[in-house]
Amino acid sequence: MIHPGRAVDLGCGHGRNAIFLAHRGFSVEGVDYSREALDWAAARVAEAGVAVTLTNRSVFQWEPEPASYDLVYDSGCFHHIPPHRRLGYVELVVRALKPGGWFGLTCFRPEGGSHLSDDEVYEHRSMGGGLGYTEERLREIWSQGMQVRQVRQMNKRGADSGLFGEDFLWVLLARKAAA
Ligand SMILES: C[S@@+](CC[C@H](N)C(=O)[O-])C[C@H]1O[C@@H](n2cnc3c(N)ncnc32)[C@H](O)[C@@H]1O
Repeated sequence: MIHPGRAVDLGCGHGRNAIFLAHRGFSVEGVDYSREALDWAAARVAEAGVAVTLTNRSVFQWEPEPASYDLVYDSGCFHHIPPHRRLGYVELVVRALKPGGWFGLTCFRPEGGSHLSDDEVYEHRSMGGGLGYTEERLREIWSQGMQVRQVRQMNKRGADSGLFGEDFLWVLLARKAAA
């Protein structure tokens, strides 16, 4: 059970997850480098009648107060992070979390992503729309500084369910060690 607290949604896009968390009692910030996405998020936040602080910045220019978040959430941002920035991104997430804080991730499975290896990203100078990850690779990456609690394929949801769910995505839950 993750109790409501201070949360940040990295690469928040139009804010659907930030709004979801705000509705459940979290104090939420959203960070995204797309001005258009954040304008859309601001309109949706206002319509939802919740409070979400939106920051128009690359995650790499975002400077969180260390150990200040109960939850860091990333739905669809990590798989757009180029290989040479990957470790820095993991360090950023771990630094931002309080001891005992949680990290939630949604990213492409191999069949959902671009099939490019790290070397091919630089050969082609393209991420090909986002990188796919194997479970083993995801566990290896996110075990640096956290304990990976769960990695599973996302449940596919029908359009009429009111929920987002695609089976070409992973969901990962990790926890930073308590002090
Ligand atoms: C696939 S969208 C997901 C949006 C939202 N999280 C969702 O699940 O609906 C990925 C988002 O990450 C943002 N993004 C990608 N790389 C980023 C970076 N380095 N810094 C900030 N935002 C980034 C993009 O602008 C985009 O809004």
